[in-house]
Amino acid sequence: MRCLALGLFCLLCCNAAQTYRQNPCKAIPLDFIFVIDSSRSIRPNDYEKVKTFIINLLQFLKIGHNATRVGLLQYGSVVQPEFSLSTYTTKSEVEQAVRNMEHLATGTMTGLAIQYTMETAFTEEHGARPMNLHIPRIAMIVTDGRPQDTVEEIAAQARQAGIQIFAIGVGRVDMNTLRAIGSEPHSEHVHLVANFSQIETLISVFQSKLCSDMCEVVDHQCQHICVSSPASYRCKCREGYILNPDEPECSEGVMDLVFVIDGSKSLGPNNFELVKQFVNSIVDSLDISKMGTHVGLLQYSTKVRTEFTLGQYSTAQHIKSAVNRMQYMGRGSMTGSALRHMFESSFSTKEGGRFNIPRVSIVFTDGRSQDDVSEWATKAKNSGITIYALGVGKAIEQELREIASEPDEKHLYYAEDFEKMAEITKKLKSRICAGTLHKAEVQESLQGSQKYV
Ligand SMILES: *[C@@H]1O[C@H](CO)[C@@H](O)[C@H](O)[C@H]1NC(C)=O
Ligand SMILES: *[C@@H]1O[C@H](CO)[C@@H](O)[C@H](O)[C@H]1NC(C)=O
Repeated sequence: MRCLALGLFCLLCCNAAQTYRQNPCKAIPLDFIFVIDSSRSIRPNDYEKVKTFIINLLQFLKIGHNATRVGLLQYGSVVQPEFSLSTYTTKSEVEQAVRNMEHLATGTMTGLAIQYTMETAFTEEHGARPMNLHIPRIAMIVTDGRPQDTVEEIAAQARQAGIQIFAIGVGRVDMNTLRAIGSEPHSEHVHLVANFSQIETLISVFQSKLCSDMCEVVDHQCQHICVSSPASYRCKCREGYILNPDEPECSEGVMDLVFVIDGSKSLGPNNFELVKQFVNSIVDSLDISKMGTHVGLLQYSTKVRTEFTLGQYSTAQHIKSAVNRMQYMGRGSMTGSALRHMFESSFSTKEGGRFNIPRVSIVFTDGRSQDDVSEWATKAKNSGITIYALGVGKAIEQELREIASEPDEKHLYYAEDFEKMAEITKKLKSRICAGTLHKAEVQESLQGSQKYV
């Protein structure tokens, strides 16, 4: 059994309405990147107003190598890095660099700028501090136009990678675009103003976000450690602890998960629909993304069919639609042969299995298998796959034991009928969550070696 990653986070909601203007500013250390739209539509004196806005915001930051590090890039048709997180260590240097910036006056490749921010600006090579130090990574995007490229997916990836994004729109910016860029809650992260003169009104808004130590001003109820970030905070557990299983959401967990779903005749088409709902409710509790959890699914009856592989989808929405489209087989019950397929193919590189990521399988069955299950279950478990066995109705306890990883009390779930499945689903969710790898650790292993594929 591998060591589980302890020290998961829970992202709790918080409300900066609960923050107060504070004097003096209690600036917490941040890795802060300004991402500035420098497109043609911005007039020269508006460009100067953006600079003034940035300089005014800097007064709320305590800049230094061990305090807040600031980087800045502007973008038009291309991305132009002005300075990185490691370039300057004093506020006056940063201010001077902002004053010296020159308007690009070209296109509006916002997606490209976000991609650069995520893939380059927030790397340790460019001065970002290691993930395990939990310095909030903040990107503030100021834009006046409609992007010429797509932003939704890349912005979602950046947020998933742990970057908190503030999106500031000026003028006729499409609010949906801003929302697609900014972090949740949007009330805290997405701001739209009528014109560049109005951008100054945001200074006081950001003062309260940047100067408040959220852990101090809200009733955070974190049991162990509260980590502040502008307009938000998160709870952290001390080393050796994981989050309470009462919190089933593993919003930052990473694994490769393969469902093995019984589609035999005994189930009936109505219950098969309930099983789909069960799968989708598990999917909803996971952090599905390219860098996060991947999900694959096999349905079996007399034969085994790969409904989708681990590598096929990278959003929960796509996975859930594929689950909904799944056609009920409605024949025999060859669980052993399904386990064999799961073991031999489902985690292969060809199907999208990754190295150094926990491998988990949830095997659902409603009755006695027509073939032997122990051989392939044992091989799968010996190869490092953690198997959860979920039985309903006429499922045989002995068989579930043979399928499930040890100990049974953590890996074996049984419900007498489909109505009682919701209860065990909840327990199962929190168990699975505890066995995932924290995203920060995946990133570290990604940076440390190139094993993550
Ligand atoms: C930053 O912190 C490190 C470790 O605490 C210390 O060694 C270093 O001298 C500090 N650097 C500055 C510029 O304060
Ligand atoms: C900017 O917008 C505000 C509020 O809509 C308006 O009162 C003001 O006249 C505008 N300023 C410019 C320069 O257009």
